[in-house]
Parts: sequence; C-alpha cells; structure tokens
Amino acid sequence: MSSFDVETIRKDFPILSTKVHDKPLVYLDNAATTQKPNSVIEIMNEYMHNHNANVHRGIHLLSEKSTEGYENARIKVANFFNASQPEEIIFTKGTTESINLVAHAWGRKFISEGDIIILSEMEHHSNLVPWQLLAKSVGAELKFVEMNEDTTLNLESLKELVSDKRAKLVALSYASNVLGNVNPVKEVIEISHSENIPVLLDGAQAAPHHKIDFAEIDCDFFACSAHKMLGPTGIGILYAKMELLEAMDPFLGGGEMILEVGLHESSYKEPPYKFEAGTPSYIEAIGFGAAIDYLKAVGMDSIHDHEANLSKYALGELKKLGDVEVYGPSEGRAGIISFNIGNAHPHDVAQLLDADGVAVRAGHHCAQPLMNWLKVSSTSRASFYLYNTESEVDVFVESLDKIKEMFN
Ligand SMILES: Cc1ncc(COP(=O)(O)O)c(C=O)c1O
Repeated sequence: MSSFDVETIRKDFPILSTKVHDKPLVYLDNAATTQKPNSVIEIMNEYMHNHNANVHRGIHLLSEKSTEGYENARIKVANFFNASQPEEIIFTKGTTESINLVAHAWGRKFISEGDIIILSEMEHHSNLVPWQLLAKSVGAELKFVEMNEDTTLNLESLKELVSDKRAKLVALSYASNVLGNVNPVKEVIEISHSENIPVLLDGAQAAPHHKIDFAEIDCDFFACSAHKMLGPTGIGILYAKMELLEAMDPFLGGGEMILEVGLHESSYKEPPYKFEAGTPSYIEAIGFGAAIDYLKAVGMDSIHDHEANLSKYALGELKKLGDVEVYGPSEGRAGIISFNIGNAHPHDVAQLLDADGVAVRAGHHCAQPLMNWLKVSSTSRASFYLYNTESEVDVFVESLDKIKEMFN
C-alpha cells in the first residue's frame, strides 16, 4: 500500500461488510475497540492451526516457532515506538494491567506516606483507580492538574504541582477517550523532568492514531492496548525505561519470571521476563505484531491525516444540524467526538443510531470525574479510524437529524 486508499483498506476488514438490522454497518465505536484486518485474523489462525506450543519452555520445533513469533512481536512493538531496546517492552493484558503493574511494582517501592501522585480530571478510570488504591495503601495523596475552560490541560497548574517536593509521579492520558484532546505530552514531560519527576502516559487512545517516538518524547512509562490498534484483545504493552524496570519489584509471581526458586526465596529473571509471569498471550502478541505491520504499511501519518479530515468534516456537519453540544477542544483533537443532542438521553441516541446500522457508544466512558467536570451524566461518542469514510459520517448525521426531529 503506497498511498492511502480507504476503499482498498476497507476490503481488508471482513466485518465491515456486515449488516446490522438489515443496514450496512457504520462502525464508529473505535475508541472502545477496533476491527481486525485479515492479516491479523489469518496469522493467529495460522499459529493455532500449525505452530501452537507454549513459548520459552520447549526444546522442540513448535515451541521454537512460537517463541520466535512472540519475541519478533516484541521487536516489532519496540521498533514501532522507537524504544531503545525490545527488553523495555513488557507484554501485558492491556493498558489497564500495564498501569496496575506500575502502581504495584514501582509505586509500592518508590511512593510512600505523604507523597503526591499527579493526575488529571480527564483520566480514564484505568489511570485513576490504580492510583487511588496505591494512595490508600501507602498513605499518598492524589492531586489533579487543572483543565482550562476549553478542556485543554492547564500547564501552569502542572508546573505548580510538580514544584512540590512531595510529588513523585505524573500519570496522564496522552489523548482523552472522551474529549479527543491530544495532550501536549512533550511539554508535560519537560516540565515534570525539570523537577526530576517521572511521567507515565496512558497511550490507549494515542498509540492507534499517530506516530509516537519514545526517544523523542522521553516518557518514562507508556501503556497501550493492541485491541484499539487493529490487534486482538488480551494483549497490550507496558514500556518503561530500562533503569526503571531494573529498579522495580516483580508484579505477579509464578512461572516464566524466575531464575531459581527455593521454598522460602526466589530470584528473578531480567526484564522483560521478570514482569511476565505465567504463560503469556503469545498468539495474541503475534496478532499484535501483524497489526503493527499493517499500521506501518498504511503509514501513521496518513492514518492521522485521514482521521483529522473525517473529524473536521463530522464536526462541520454536526454544527449544521444545530442543537448538538460537542465536548472537547476546537483544535488538537483525535478522531473522537463526544456529544449530546437536545434533551435526548445518550442511551436512546445510541439505540436509535444502532437501528440505522450506526455503532456509537453512550455512557460515562469510564471517566466519571470528567462527566462531573463537564456537568453531564453521560454523552454519546462517535470515534473514527482508518477505515471510516465521509459517506459513513453522512449516514451518522442523517440518522441524528431524524433523532433530533423525533425528540423535538
Ligand atoms: C484512555 C484510556 N485508557 C485506558 C483504557 C483501558 O484500556 P483497556 O480496557 O484495553 O485496558 C481505555 C479504554 O477505553 C482508554 O480509552
């Protein structure tokens, strides 16, 4: 694939030709999970049909083949994000597990009573609840970077928070799953590093949509999920700088992560294996590797531009409809549009859109504090990806128009 051709791309995704309620599927729920191209489905099938064996353990051909596939996937992820070595990539179940891993394995060792963990009010529960649990158990305190009226992060507030000597970690979303904000993470990291505070980025909504270079942004921890970037469920990564991984205690204990085990004491392998206890999701990791190959072949810049155009087009069409409140900044947003229409309840809106074949999400989007900040109980959310088209946006907006009339 040399140039971006959405119709060619769509042919790679079998589910996109599905009908729902006898209508062509218009899948606009990509922030929740994305669809899978044939290459991902086929390689996972191929491994299950022909090469399945547990990794790292067996001295036989199938196990060697599985191990090679698994470790190649790690190399693909490391190259995709420009990590300095594949060993800095830990395979986890996804973003949620990755953040919990840091909270347990780093947090319990390096955060103690009276320390401060800095978050924002736009965080997904995955980047809030693990820190609440940690703060409760060690007696630390959570503080929140303020948001400006237009929902962007207030960097002056961040500067003030990091200047407190008790601040030990900044953990922020790279892109909000509700507002679509792409946060200025380079500046956030520079500000935090100027006070020697490490930064964890929740990259769940950023990694799928634009190029990310760990060396360039200099983040300390980064978490994302494969299923939001064309890969399978049950697999994601935690990236951390090697010196942090080396200093951390293990997260889960069990097979694979040990060097030697006695009755009372054990010693552990080096990263990444120290953090990968038990049989890993190796077939899923191989699927993740194929998803990364696909994204690279299309090109992250082209994907970003396509989504930005779709978002701009959709925002323009929604504005023409009238009576639609869109949340989030006017600029610098990813392909996510959260909205409310008149007095209609978001669940009714989502259900009526579904009747027209349009899949969107409605609810608090696992961001209840943000809903409070926005002073709403819930929103509807349409989210785009590389395979969505302007004509799908038209179907979505026409359906909303009907819904608007219905509620008037
Ligand atoms: C910003 C953000 N963080 C974290 C998560 C959690 O991802 P997962 O459920 O794959 O662990 C999501 C999922 O929607 C998200 O949007």
